[in-house]
Amino acid sequence: MTKIRVGVNGYGTIGKRVADAVLKMPDMELVGVVKVTPDASALIAESRGIPLYTVRDRVEAFKSKGVKVEGVLEDLLESIDVIVDATPGGVGARYKELYLEYSKRKGLKMIFQGGEKPGVAEISFNAYCNPEKIPGHRSVRVVSCNTTGLLRLICILDKAFGVEKVRATIIRRAADPKEDKRGPVNSIRLNPPNIPSHHAVDVKTVAPHIDIETAAVIVPTTLMHVHSVYIVLKKNTSRDEVIDVLGRYKRILLVDSEKTGIDSTAKLVEASRDMGRPRYDIPELVVWKDTIHVNGEEVWLLQGVHQESIVVPENIDAIRGLMNTKGYPSESIELTDKILGLGSLSRVLG
Ligand SMILES: NC(=O)c1ccc[n+]([C@@H]2O[C@H](COP(=O)([O-])OP(=O)(O)OC[C@H]3O[C@@H](n4cnc5c(N)ncnc54)[C@H](OP(=O)(O)O)[C@@H]3O)[C@@H](O)[C@H]2O)c1
Repeated sequence: MTKIRVGVNGYGTIGKRVADAVLKMPDMELVGVVKVTPDASALIAESRGIPLYTVRDRVEAFKSKGVKVEGVLEDLLESIDVIVDATPGGVGARYKELYLEYSKRKGLKMIFQGGEKPGVAEISFNAYCNPEKIPGHRSVRVVSCNTTGLLRLICILDKAFGVEKVRATIIRRAADPKEDKRGPVNSIRLNPPNIPSHHAVDVKTVAPHIDIETAAVIVPTTLMHVHSVYIVLKKNTSRDEVIDVLGRYKRILLVDSEKTGIDSTAKLVEASRDMGRPRYDIPELVVWKDTIHVNGEEVWLLQGVHQESIVVPENIDAIRGLMNTKGYPSESIELTDKILGLGSLSRVLG
């Protein structure tokens, strides 16, 4: 089998996880990752045999620290089918012109992350909403962690019942666990201090027909985001039916808090650690089963988003979508879920 050759530019929170997921996929080869700082992450990648690349003006910095690089970004682009850009928000857009050169010359495909503006790619994507739209395009944007969480829920319910409108409050984590310069430390900040927040606009880049408004605040935690989501459906339903529908999807983790005692993000993270999940990742959207409140057409629930890992499955599917692999999208989603072990926590905690 010819494997899809993948490169990852930006080896931080998202890049590391996408690279590790690519390494696990039987139909993909990780050709290399690009870093600009020769730090501990670079040394660890080197020790794990992950080929490291850098950018031209950082070669000397790597040399002076004795960290071996295989070449520069351009060398990597020459030898891959798909580049996953996981550089900080706004930086990916600056690389777009370079990627496009390789795209025109040798058919390179590009994936950008949610920190980029929607216009950076031909389409924005979520696996449960619009996977069939990717083939035929050369660039895709995987929407942000919060938008991915909202879209998974909304598109599942939209397919099953039709969605009339969505109103959601997003309680955002202040920083990722590795970050030591971001806050707030002791405050709840309106982010942004107006309604709707940009999340609603972002949902519409994938599902333009959805009537959605969002508000967002930032709180002093690093573990996960939590959403309070109120949805009006197009038809009456019952709580059991909503649970039944959500339970059919591997990327939804239904948590029974009465049975398990899991009523916080801290306890979720502990469960993931106990399951031996790498980096305590939870790529599923967590829906607290006991919060699912259904009244005729109204559904209200609380859900958790592990910001560091929720977009990883979508990045893997986007790679196959751009390459239009046989059986995409359903077989791709199934394979991604199987290899990443999605659904394993549901069987225990649901
Ligand atoms: N973190 C999240 O919760 C999250 C969730 C979903 C989506 N996203 C999106 O994913 C993207 C990446 O975010 P992240 O949190 O993974 O960022 P991050 O942890 O800060 O990592 C960014 C990586 O990009 C590298 N980098 C910085 N400047 C670069 C440049 N000029 N050229 C090449 N590489 C460069 C950094 O390299 P060095 O390490 O070598 O310095 C670092 O490895 C953003 O669009 C973000 O909005 C983030």
